[in-house]
Amino acid sequence: MNCLIRLLAVALSALTLGWSQESLKENERIVFLGDSITAAGARPGGYITLAAKQVEEVLPELNVKLIGAGIGGHKVPDCQRRLQKDVLDHKPTLVFIYIGINDVWHWTHPKVVARGKKGTTPEDFENGLRDMIAKIQGVGARVILCTPTVIGEKSDGSNPDDARLDEYAGISRRVAKDTNSQLLDLRKGFIDYLKNHNPTNLSEGILTSDSVHMNERGNQLIAEFVLGALNVATGNRPAPSNHIASAETSESIERGRAVYSQLCFNCHGPKLDGGQGPSLVDEYWQHGSSPDAILRVIDKGVPGSPMIGYEAVFPEADRLALRDFILSEQTGMREVVRSVYPEEYFKDKRLTPALFDSVESLSQTPLPENLYHFERNTRGLMRGQSKLYIKETGKYHFGIRVIGRTSIFLNGEEVHYSDQKVDKKQHINKTLELSAGVHDLEILHEEPPTHSYKFHGYLQKVGGERMMLTGRSLQGNIPKVIKAGPTAMVVRKWIADLPPRALMCLLPNQVIVAFDADSGEILKAWHSAEINQTPSLPDRSQKPSEINGEVIAELVLSGVEAEHFQFRHYQTDGGKAIITALIDGDLKNVVIEPEGDQSYQVTVQ
Ligand code: HEC
Repeated sequence: MNCLIRLLAVALSALTLGWSQESLKENERIVFLGDSITAAGARPGGYITLAAKQVEEVLPELNVKLIGAGIGGHKVPDCQRRLQKDVLDHKPTLVFIYIGINDVWHWTHPKVVARGKKGTTPEDFENGLRDMIAKIQGVGARVILCTPTVIGEKSDGSNPDDARLDEYAGISRRVAKDTNSQLLDLRKGFIDYLKNHNPTNLSEGILTSDSVHMNERGNQLIAEFVLGALNVATGNRPAPSNHIASAETSESIERGRAVYSQLCFNCHGPKLDGGQGPSLVDEYWQHGSSPDAILRVIDKGVPGSPMIGYEAVFPEADRLALRDFILSEQTGMREVVRSVYPEEYFKDKRLTPALFDSVESLSQTPLPENLYHFERNTRGLMRGQSKLYIKETGKYHFGIRVIGRTSIFLNGEEVHYSDQKVDKKQHINKTLELSAGVHDLEILHEEPPTHSYKFHGYLQKVGGERMMLTGRSLQGNIPKVIKAGPTAMVVRKWIADLPPRALMCLLPNQVIVAFDADSGEILKAWHSAEINQTPSLPDRSQKPSEINGEVIAELVLSGVEAEHFQFRHYQTDGGKAIITALIDGDLKNVVIEPEGDQSYQVTVQ
């Protein structure tokens, strides 16, 4: 009995002392000791820089400093030699030790082996870690010990160094426990991530650029793990995600498809392209295109609209499944955030995400249309950050009209660069191999001040549909000018204070009427000079349609009290639309006229 209690007490103290996450305190100084991954981590876009930004944002009052101490090629013995100078001299309160890749890799790395050098033996690795941790704890600082990440990203244990990496990671786990250090199991975190996000078992390109060093997503993932270990909220920084890959997710997608076809299709259409409710597969998202935003609408609904919250209707697993299903149907850019940066920092420098990371932006705007646009009279450089949803693995044409200076980065790798020196008439078109799933896409762009075109680019599956990567927004202060033709044109547009299925109908006399497509009820009318200035949203159905005067007349006449009418004729006269019809046997003119700012008048003459 006694013995059991003692055991429990020991286990508890190991939990609280060794494994708990302490929260950050004022004036903490956190040193990151490591190799080239950590050296890069301290550069713009690196994991330390990202984590530091987040700490500063969430806990500005604490004055926490994050200090990089990584050197390329270093192993445990190298770190031991420079511990005093690079770590202890900084008077740290907390030290991350993220080491082990070179200790393992140098046993097999051809260049290292050719020079007659070796990795670190397991004994030296373990003793070195214990030695450093004792010295760090000796000055009163905490240690967070990280397991080494990956040498090769294959998720089935078939990378050549996997067995040895697992052995060394095991040593780090044991040392962390024995020394009451907090463990940050990056290797486990990476393998778990890769199991879900590397369906084709690539050896690089998911989290690393070369099987070892982090790409943008790798840096983001480590930053999130680091912030988690520090108990710092990661906020709404989009987690690197790729919803399509895992078996678990595909099950969820199928479940979502089944739930969708029981109910949601009634309003959003069997193909999700819209009906009474908006399309869920076009670029435009009124309430946000991120996984969280979509789930929020499913859970809570949109108050005052036919979209009710389904929180009380479906169990959570069904609602998550609906979200997964909707996400799996997406293609093209989503979750677009456009930032504008001051020009002066970017002269004669190659545009890279890291360079933008090192400068404060002037503005940041999430774009619900998921289309980039750049206002001509804004001085500055544009950075568009987004997720690229790809439904099918395959070859994609990537086309861009060369204007100004443009770099495009996909998953942290530059896939396009052009500047003023490139022939302006040239269209750059290359083919990219893209795997199904979600990719990080960044478009970095400087518009020449004198230019009248907008930046323009697209992505097209070979033999498939073209997805615009850029385009002009219809929202905000860019009015869409609608011209009246001989046939009245119906422009379905989404006006903020109208229900989503309101049809915008332009009469040849320039009067525009918004009516409810289901009931025919007229909701609002404007003169087109005015509508052209009305901030409006693009057609969600992607199917602008035309209807003729007869249909308009029927809809307008449904508001006129009559037993019976028969359409005869439709014409315009100055600012008015005149519908001639037989109303209860008499030939009459129904005149629609704009009146005042936002109303119209229907008179029967
Ligand atoms: C009775 C009709 C109706 C049904 C049924 C319905 N919706 Fe909706 N839904 C709407 C309408 C209308 C909107 C637009 C609300 C608004 O923005 O005013 C909407 C909006 C949405 C949005 C947000 C779209 C955006 O642009 O941000 C999502 C996501 C959505 N619905 C998902 C679902 C799912 C999933 C189901 C099934 C559980 C469902 N809806 C069932 C009518 C419906």
